[in-house]
Amino acid sequence: MSADSPDQTFAGHVAVVTGAGTGIGRATAVAFAAAGAHVLGVGRREEPLKETAALHPGIDVLAIDICGAGAPAEVIRAAVQCWGRLDYLVNNAGATAVMTLADTDERTITDLFALNVVAPSLLAHAALPHLRESSGTIINLSSTYGHRPMPGGAHYAATKAAVEQLTRSWALELAGEGVRVNAVAPGPTRTDVLLHAGLTPEATNDMYAYERERIPTHHIAGAEEVAYWVLRMADPAGRHATGQVIAVDGGLELV
Ligand SMILES: NC(=O)c1ccc[n+]([C@@H]2O[C@H](COP(=O)([O-])OP(=O)(O)OC[C@H]3O[C@@H](n4cnc5c(N)ncnc54)[C@H](OP(=O)(O)O)[C@@H]3O)[C@@H](O)[C@H]2O)c1
Repeated sequence: MSADSPDQTFAGHVAVVTGAGTGIGRATAVAFAAAGAHVLGVGRREEPLKETAALHPGIDVLAIDICGAGAPAEVIRAAVQCWGRLDYLVNNAGATAVMTLADTDERTITDLFALNVVAPSLLAHAALPHLRESSGTIINLSSTYGHRPMPGGAHYAATKAAVEQLTRSWALELAGEGVRVNAVAPGPTRTDVLLHAGLTPEATNDMYAYERERIPTHHIAGAEEVAYWVLRMADPAGRHATGQVIAVDGGLELV
């Protein structure tokens, strides 16, 4: 691909990306828009969403809490009203929590499942009629810890294990209808996710240093490196892959 003929794989297509104000979601929104898609970027806070929208004219944004009553349907309606179709749903918004069994509290469990499991399910449900029309694709964000144990983060790991089983089960349900469902499972990726979970900057840096030692490539990914694989899973040329969870983790899941 040269500078004179930029990649327009997704020209005329429409993508909804949740959690698009920061991190992997922002990088994914920008990458889709750069490859020609119309993007609706979703998150709760307007400021970071506006910053994402300023990065590419192909990005519109909607500030909404996807866990709110009726919100998933509203998100999908907004995209279809704007562009008349929907091709890709990227269920990226998510949160983690450091919580041992000894410290387990009901609210944290409920909030994690509401955001990481319930909201993506209702978004996929609302998107489905439009994805059937476009032979579209759902890409869910899992984690290395969706298929590896996470002491001190069991409930986060459990939500991502649920995401992986939703991915495989929906893929089978929809395979005959031309709708693909895949997941990207990043390893530790340099974003504000740990700060959003309440860790201090020092604890966050310590965590990344510890993970860098464990990762076979000794590299903490940037958000763009994960977004690259989200787009590859969305690419219509890859239409024979469905129900897959692709690890983007420098080999971490192998050790
Ligand atoms: N970074 C990593 O190391 C890593 C590793 C494996 C998997 N992942 C997964 O990758 C995904 C993206 O994470 P990230 O690292 O980019 O973290 P992040 O920067 O914290 O992104 C999470 C995004 O979700 C949005 N969000 C949170 N609650 C929401 C709600 N109720 N409604 C709408 N939007 C909401 C946040 O924006 P607002 O606060 O403005 O709503 C934020 O933009 C998550 O699913 C995460 O579990 C990350």
